[in-house]
Amino acid sequence: MFLIDNLMDLTHLGYVHGSTIGGDIENQNVAEVETWKTKQGARFVRWMEDVPPPPTFVTSGGFQGNIDRRAEFEYIAPASVMQSTGVFDAGKGSKESIDLDGGLKFRLFHHATPASEGEFHYFFSAGVEGATFDSPESQKFFQDVLDAFLEDKLFIEAQQDAVTRNPLERLLLREHDKAVAYARQAVAQLRQQNFATAAE
Ligand SMILES: [Fe+2]
Repeated sequence: MFLIDNLMDLTHLGYVHGSTIGGDIENQNVAEVETWKTKQGARFVRWMEDVPPPPTFVTSGGFQGNIDRRAEFEYIAPASVMQSTGVFDAGKGSKESIDLDGGLKFRLFHHATPASEGEFHYFFSAGVEGATFDSPESQKFFQDVLDAFLEDKLFIEAQQDAVTRNPLERLLLREHDKAVAYARQAVAQLRQQNFATAAE
């Protein structure tokens, strides 16, 4: 669930991924986010306009100046997150869609599954639109994605350590954690359904 929390609250980008996909903390914190509760999870669109590009987008997308950035994430309980992100020169992006000419567009599929009590496997796949798998552009992008997820790993492990040490501590949700809350609700709902089915 810490991985799902991580993907549902992207305000961590500025703090954790400064050298890859993050960008500056200030802009990450004021990004415009719209969140919906779905039948089996949560979906959100995050929009940043006219902001400096993080290192990955400079190297993979060749952006020289500021960018517009639209990210859409959908969580499908219990274990899957689909992501599509579009990055465009400032003024060329759209809050509504990434189906526009030019820019850097990529999709990721994230999947987590428990390995043991307190451990999980994180599977992910990534694709850059318009780039073949073995192109230098794709390979650089894959490496940056991997580096970024290894940064997440440090934080997720620290969170797991914290709850293992203090099992009675409550999870603290803030105003930007709407999608986190919806995701956890969806899991609780599945758990309830399992109990109901088992009790029949
Ligand atoms: Fe992350």
